Amino acid sequence: MDPIKNPFSPGAGAPPPELVGRDPILEEARILLGRIKQKRPEKSILLTGLRGVGKTVLLNEIERRAKEAGYRTVSIEAHEDKPFGPLIASHLKTLLYDLDRVAGAGDKVKRGLRVLRSFIGGLKVTVGDVTMGLDIDPEQGAADSGDIEIDLSNVFVAVGEAAEERKSAVAVLIDEIQYFNQKELGALIMAMHKVQQRQFPLVLFGAGLPILPGLAGESKSYAERLFSFPHVGALTEKDAAQALYEPAQAAGVVFDVPALAEVFRLTKGYPYFIQEWGYQAWNLAPASPITLHVVKKATATVISRLDQNFFRVRYDRLTPSEKNFLRAMADLGSGHHRTGDIANALGVKVTSLGPVRAKLMKKGMIYSPSHGDMAFTVPLFDEFMRRIMPGDDWRV
Ligand SMILES: Nc1ncnc2c1ncn2[C@@H]1O[C@H](COP(=O)(O)OP(=O)(O)OP(=O)(O)O)[C@@H](O)[C@H]1O
Ligand SMILES: [Mg+2]
Repeated sequence: MDPIKNPFSPGAGAPPPELVGRDPILEEARILLGRIKQKRPEKSILLTGLRGVGKTVLLNEIERRAKEAGYRTVSIEAHEDKPFGPLIASHLKTLLYDLDRVAGAGDKVKRGLRVLRSFIGGLKVTVGDVTMGLDIDPEQGAADSGDIEIDLSNVFVAVGEAAEERKSAVAVLIDEIQYFNQKELGALIMAMHKVQQRQFPLVLFGAGLPILPGLAGESKSYAERLFSFPHVGALTEKDAAQALYEPAQAAGVVFDVPALAEVFRLTKGYPYFIQEWGYQAWNLAPASPITLHVVKKATATVISRLDQNFFRVRYDRLTPSEKNFLRAMADLGSGHHRTGDIANALGVKVTSLGPVRAKLMKKGMIYSPSHGDMAFTVPLFDEFMRRIMPGDDWRV
């Protein structure tokens, strides 16, 4: 059928034609936004889930709704190798300038800018373009200790005060939050703690791979009281079917029931894969309805596209020893595995796997769902590893 009219949208952060199965999380976000605006305490939200489940899409939708509810938003994406301080500083600068233009008495916005200037001065890395353009004297000693845990709290409090003074509310949205190091994560948690204690109109929405273990340590005990961690997961069979048939139906096309069941069997309900299968099946179908036969025909195309793109870009970032580790893990099947079992499959000592495991976690390829266990962050990656590295060469 006409590819131009194809309603499906496989891609990173590409809004799906139908955002199904996420009403409970959106409702939680609505309540949070409403309560914080009314200065009532509520837990901020950190969405966690595997690759391609729809975290970014959800975060974007929450941002849209926050704006609708009258919030000013700051939206950032963390990166593997970029420190958090400079990243957020430039966005907060824009926000404070924005607040400065809102009519209102008081000097809290100017103070916010001075505190931010102090924060930037205390950053260890150069942030030329941020410093430039911030034409204001720093408030000495306000946020320039160089310890992000202290400084970020002071910045957030100053921003919260400024927002309150201008009768505004701020939503900070951070994607890929698992790329923060322990210290940065700790700083963010502490900053939100301070903001909550003073009941400033500032709220945080984060999204990332399952990071609860990363919150271990001293910050953890109150992190659980400060944040709610909704799990963004695969769709149920009913929701997966809806994600396919509703957009098709809107274009006058139907899916046969066995076709829907086959897509669910293959995708296990993972949203990104659903979009891929929907997209290819649409293009291959000669006419409505989209049948089981069409879906089966689409499968080869989808798998080869996934292998060349979605899986491949991740695979290409791996060193040979990382590939072997993941291949051994894949050999044990999908799900969680003990590092000891992976070592056994590889034929090496478990102690020798520490460094490679740490690198894979840093790259966001695997995570630890519970102590000593490892799992893939990319759904169906085990099947891909078995396809791309057939045979036994990876065993030592
Ligand atoms: N609720 C949903 N229903 C149907 N499709 C969805 C849903 N949520 C997301 N998608 C689709 O899934 C794909 C992945 O979405 P998104 O990029 O938001 O995932 P992600 O969790 O942020 O992935 P990553 O961890 O790789 O950043 C997109 O093609 C999007 O259209
Ligand atoms: Mg994303």
